[in-house]
Amino acid sequence: MAQIGKDIEEAATVLRRGGLVAIPTETVYGLAANALDPSAVVRIFEAKGRPHFDPLIVHLPSAAQINSYASSFPAKAQQLAKTFWPGPLTLVLPKRDNIPDIVSSGLATVGLRMPHHTLTQNLLSSLDFPLAAPSANPFGYISPTTAAHVQAQLGDKVDYILDGGACSVGLESTIVGFEADEARILRLGGITLEAVEQCIGKVLLNNESSSNPAAPGMLLSHYAPRKPLILGDIPKLVVQYRGKKFAVLALQNLHGQHGIALSPSGNLSEAAQSLFAAMRSLDAMEVDVILAERMPHKGLGLAINDRLGRAAYSETFK
Ligand code: TXA
Ligand code: MG
Repeated sequence: MAQIGKDIEEAATVLRRGGLVAIPTETVYGLAANALDPSAVVRIFEAKGRPHFDPLIVHLPSAAQINSYASSFPAKAQQLAKTFWPGPLTLVLPKRDNIPDIVSSGLATVGLRMPHHTLTQNLLSSLDFPLAAPSANPFGYISPTTAAHVQAQLGDKVDYILDGGACSVGLESTIVGFEADEARILRLGGITLEAVEQCIGKVLLNNESSSNPAAPGMLLSHYAPRKPLILGDIPKLVVQYRGKKFAVLALQNLHGQHGIALSPSGNLSEAAQSLFAAMRSLDAMEVDVILAERMPHKGLGLAINDRLGRAAYSETFK
């Protein structure tokens, strides 16, 4: 089991010698290594069981470092960084040669993000290299939003877990890429589509996710509990699954069934914050199936629905 603590010096020492540290961010916990050291980064892929075609996000202590790792920084990207950093936003930009190919999965671009969490910001500032970090979960499983989640699943594979409490946003960062003059959302996340468009105007939305490695990391089956998760209208599903042991995952209304309501007041930020922990709890219950409903299609509801859709996807083909 990994040591859990708040010791930034210990975390920095492990990282300087090429080890793995789980780091808290406002979105989810990351599994971090020195982004400039390919032999440290390879350990991330091994620990997660992650395919090498899925590129990693590089975490920076400040926006001032963007030009050290990206060879161009378009105006729209600058505007987004200025507005949302530190925060749950990743910018995909053309990479400089100092970013190893293993980090970008051989792509010519790199995902850069400045996370909003005091412990991790202090850690990043104390290092003379940035941190490559995917979410700290086994590949395909639910992202961790507490140190205990990381310990439970990767405790024997990480050298230290920096405990920053429960993640305040609870969903991964929104990822934005740039093509000529246009911006494209590659993954919905903690910054809403509306907020991005308010900042830089109309953007394209990647909804053509596939299991094709050419769309790296956007696999249709992802963020999934071990139990089957069925997405639909709860009252209808309850009738359909009568006689089975099930639990319900809803925004507000459990329709009298056993399960978890993400936000009794219907607040989507609160729902996002508790989503992954709720999926873990349901996965651990003595039930055969999880019956879940979609969130309203606005604000963070879009990103939550994206995660629920990927969690449910594998069921479609069982
Ligand atoms: O909030 C987050 O983004 C968290 C925390 C730890 O920062 N990280 C995270 O990493 O969610 P991960 O590895 O679970 O997801 C990163 C995704 C990849 O799967 C891929 O879809 C996308 O980021 N990505 C990274 N670099 C990319 C690139 N150069 N081009 C396109 N997509 C990229
Ligand atoms: Mg992930």
